[in-house]
Amino acid sequence: MTNTKNHSGKMALVTGGNRGIGLETARQLAELGFTVLIGVRDLAKGEAAASKLGGKVEPIALDVATPDAAARAAAEVERRFGRLDILVNNAAIHYDPSARALRPDWSVIREAFETNVFGAWRVAAAFAPLLGVSGHGRLVNVSSEGGSLASMGAGAPAYSTSKATLNALTRILAAELRGAGVLVNAICPGWVATDMGGPGGRPVAQGAAGIVWAATLPDDGPTGGFFRDGKRLPW
Ligand SMILES: NC(=O)c1ccc[n+]([C@@H]2O[C@H](COP(=O)([O-])OP(=O)(O)OC[C@H]3O[C@@H](n4cnc5c(N)ncnc54)[C@H](OP(=O)(O)O)[C@@H]3O)[C@@H](O)[C@H]2O)c1
Repeated sequence: MTNTKNHSGKMALVTGGNRGIGLETARQLAELGFTVLIGVRDLAKGEAAASKLGGKVEPIALDVATPDAAARAAAEVERRFGRLDILVNNAAIHYDPSARALRPDWSVIREAFETNVFGAWRVAAAFAPLLGVSGHGRLVNVSSEGGSLASMGAGAPAYSTSKATLNALTRILAAELRGAGVLVNAICPGWVATDMGGPGGRPVAQGAAGIVWAATLPDDGPTGGFFRDGKRLPW
């Protein structure tokens, strides 16, 4: 899955980029030569995170759960850079494996959808015109096998239904952006040792590698698919 082409002059945006898989994805993209914006809720945290990475990485204010934030961030990127080549919708919350759908906690379910679905949706809609300008845009929705209908069972109701909806959105966006040359895929990073994943998962570098693969696909690469480690997953 290694991509060694140099991408200097191209721009990437990773939401939820100040820690975990998002931060590692930003690091790997910067290593490939991309200028990387990490979307963050707290600019001070973002600056601290960016300063730890090599390459050109800088934070941009983007709380995906705030309705106007995506449009504001897109206007800033357009004004300052005039392009976006890669968008990684990574920010997500509320992995709730011990919760049950029959005892719904509506505030958790609503918050999960606001960030994991509507957040990613608003960001995609706001940045789609800039991805179109690229001519080779790539949109990666960081999903989870927990959102796969094929393997879905009891538990994690907020998280799993939000990721299943994100997968549906991936299919629709792939179809709507096909004509603009933008490839859109959903990627499961696997179980990764982060604040969300907890201890015992695989290293972040491995989880992020599958995201970077989808973010740097060649023009004849797949679109509208669901992958982990470059291999198709059942919907
Ligand atoms: N870890 C796993 O095992 C695993 C497995 C499958 C899929 N995934 C997916 O991989 C992605 C990254 O997960 P992770 O394990 O790296 O999670 P994490 O360690 O909990 O990090 C989540 C990141 O998202 C940010 N975030 C949360 N809400 C936000 C909002 N409203 N606006 C902007 N940023 C927001 C957080 O920022 P703050 O620091 O401000 O909170 C943080 O940077 C998620 O989409 C997750 O569902 C993870």
